[in-house]
Amino acid sequence: MYTIYCVRLVHILSIAVWFGPKLLVPAEVRRAIGAGDGAMTSAVRGINLVQKVTIAASMVTLASGLGMIFLFGGFGAVPTRIHIGFGMTLAIFGVGAFGVDKAWKRIREAVTAGRPEADLETLARRLSHLMTVENALWLAVLVLMVFPLGQR
Ligand code: HEM
Repeated sequence: MYTIYCVRLVHILSIAVWFGPKLLVPAEVRRAIGAGDGAMTSAVRGINLVQKVTIAASMVTLASGLGMIFLFGGFGAVPTRIHIGFGMTLAIFGVGAFGVDKAWKRIREAVTAGRPEADLETLARRLSHLMTVENALWLAVLVLMVFPLGQR
């Protein structure tokens, strides 16, 4: 009887873990670039960990969302806003895999290669822009999931 509430709880917890830690990443990268080599190496270690945790949380969000759809009786039984939210979540995965992860890989490689601070700053700006796109999509999905838009 409480299954749907438990799955919804897991869903909401996982979206918080998916996006919460990432909000601090651009500021941490900027701070570490300004503070020099040692700070950047330690920031890379911390942000790699954030990346692992948030990828796992994104999988839990997807699984719990699909789980709820299944519990409600399938895609036909849930409103259009959930379909759109699902589609936009796939778009977030796309921006993550082909944008943010690649931008972060470039920063790591630049740190290892000892590239100058100005280059790192350019790469950090790109990372920050891509993460803002992710955050904007995330916020839009949150609104779609919470407000019964288009429903009575
Ligand atoms: C960025 C990704 C997502 C965010 C921020 C998000 C957020 C939320 C939130 C906050 C709720 C609770 C709404 C409420 O109880 O009023 C919710 C419910 C729900 N979500 Fe998500 N979600 C995301 C991804 C997904 C995905 C990928 C699916 C499906 C594959 C999904 C399916 C659902 C369903 C079926 C509900 C229940 C709706 C209802 O009870 O009316 N969500 N979501």
